[in-house]
Amino acid sequence: MSAGSFSHYARYYDLLYRDKDYAAEARFVDGLLRAGGVAPGALLDVGCGTGAHAREFAALGWKVTGVDLAGDMIALARLKTAAAAEIEFATGAAAEFSLGRTFAAVVSLFHVMSYQAAPGEAERALANVRRHLATGGRFIFDFWHGPGVLADPPVVRVRRVSDERIRATRIAEPRHQPDQRRIDVAYDVFIEDVATGGIAQVREVHQLRYFFLPELEAALARAGFTLEATRADLSEQALHERAWYGLVVARAK
Ligand SMILES: C[S@@+](CC[C@H](N)C(=O)[O-])C[C@H]1O[C@@H](n2cnc3c(N)ncnc32)[C@H](O)[C@@H]1O
Repeated sequence: MSAGSFSHYARYYDLLYRDKDYAAEARFVDGLLRAGGVAPGALLDVGCGTGAHAREFAALGWKVTGVDLAGDMIALARLKTAAAAEIEFATGAAAEFSLGRTFAAVVSLFHVMSYQAAPGEAERALANVRRHLATGGRFIFDFWHGPGVLADPPVVRVRRVSDERIRATRIAEPRHQPDQRRIDVAYDVFIEDVATGGIAQVREVHQLRYFFLPELEAALARAGFTLEATRADLSEQALHERAWYGLVVARAK
């Protein structure tokens, strides 16, 4: 995707997801890492957005670096993060960033791998993550799961959120591109300034790729990983046919 797709996103992103339990999600992923023998050390969050998971991982004892394609998400992440958390943020594309060092763990949460929707992009992102992982380290990421998406295709949805400053309405209109294994979601967002009544309109198209486990396993192997475990979303359940979201734990060979 282009950085432009997210250029208006940071403004209302945190409002849209204010009920998301980032602390519980980070604890869950932290538990998977520790169960795999990866003790808190250097952790990289790819597609860190405004840094909500990154701050939770830092609180759990990890030394965190966050990378995101969108400069405005990184700017907000820096603003929201206390200097004492010692989190380093950088701008970069998952398939291309280069930090020149390796990490004990890499995470990429909340659809980031599915945003790698251009041909070959996800495969390049996997290879780049592998370059940033120490041997034996883990890469944990979620993704849109093909069987679940095909069994229950996305439909038009309207979402309204507000706080004391803005009232936002978001219409999400999905278009399936089956030959690309992709859903293109057109977002029309109307953001009303509560004080002035002025309305800003934003249109963004997000392209999201869904994956089937066998292709992911093969791509992971080509990039130097072993598929260690799967889950349905961030839960203890193993991945199953009806799950819309999958989670993968991959070990760096
Ligand atoms: C739904 S948000 C999730 C953000 C964050 N992980 C969270 O849980 O709040 C998807 C994020 O992926 C980032 N992103 C999309 N494509 C990317 C790419 N090619 N490289 C790096 N980040 C990307 C976006 O900028 C956005 O911050």
